[in-house]
Amino acid sequence: MIKVCSKLDLPEKSSKLIMVGDTPIAVFNTGGKLFAWDNRCPHRGASLADGHIKDESVQCKFHLWEFGVKDGCAVHNPDVKIEEYPVKEVEGIVYLDMKAD
Ligand code: FES
Repeated sequence: MIKVCSKLDLPEKSSKLIMVGDTPIAVFNTGGKLFAWDNRCPHRGASLADGHIKDESVQCKFHLWEFGVKDGCAVHNPDVKIEEYPVKEVEGIVYLDMKAD
């Protein structure tokens, strides 16, 4: 597991960007859910961690594509899906549940 931060440092409707090897991963807290996505927007690679974080979705700030919190799919095109990574909270600490490269 890779430590991301204290849960206190990831309040509701916020994100943290971390690097795992060469992969930028954005960890989000919104709608009462923690989740982690590849930070690169599948459209043109903008940082999703800098996007507009809503209860049910994250909207890329560049061209406003929106991705659902539930499944990481584009709201208007479910064939476009962001790579998701396992994340969990243990005793107030947020972890990516994967190994570093
Ligand atoms: S780069 Fe994200 S919508 Fe275009």
